[in-house]
Amino acid sequence: MKTFLDLAARRRSIRKYLDRPVEPEKLDRCLEAARLAPSACNSQPCRYVAVTDPELKRKFCEAAFSGLYSATRFAAAAPVIVAVVADKGNLTVRVGNLVRGTSFYLVDTGISCAHFALAAQDEGLGTCIIGWFDAKKAGKILGVPFGKRVELLISLGYPAENPTPRPRKTFAEACSRNRY
Ligand SMILES: Cc1cc2nc3c(=O)[nH]c(=O)nc-3n(C[C@H](O)[C@H](O)[C@H](O)COP(=O)(O)O)c2cc1C
Repeated sequence: MKTFLDLAARRRSIRKYLDRPVEPEKLDRCLEAARLAPSACNSQPCRYVAVTDPELKRKFCEAAFSGLYSATRFAAAAPVIVAVVADKGNLTVRVGNLVRGTSFYLVDTGISCAHFALAAQDEGLGTCIIGWFDAKKAGKILGVPFGKRVELLISLGYPAENPTPRPRKTFAEACSRNRY
């Protein structure tokens, strides 16, 4: 039986992709998983823009992964790139951010990306969450309005690699009960 823990344990960041399109219904289920993610005050700060048109994707990648950001150009080989656009949330969230010193909208963004990545894993697809890209150029190409920003990208496609697991802290290093 496939458990959630198996799914989480099998997921890897995928940086090489097959030249095979992603079925639209599979992409939609991944987007749906992201849409259903929890968020601070239920503010749902993200919009997910799936770049699937090959010509637009080419231009997008050229802009987003240029110069300083060329290390993440591998994502151009993915048939889909999802731009995760966030705004800083409503007044309640912004006040909460200030008081707590935590950018809750960024926490929300990360949670929804994890939902997306795990849903993709469940569909037999590979993802890489990408933070290293030119957010200004990326936003311009997609017509992202003033006040919102592309915070993360997710490349999506059928994996052409099976990377060995990256090391993780041991359970004892990462977790404890009742005391730090
Ligand atoms: C918020 C975030 C940003 C990331 N940005 C990048 C990136 O810019 N380039 C990249 O190659 N991988 C990026 N990654 C993938 C991490 O490097 C990867 O998750 C980590 O090394 C653990 O490997 P695994 O995902 O295969 O378990 C990012 C992951 C997260 C969660």
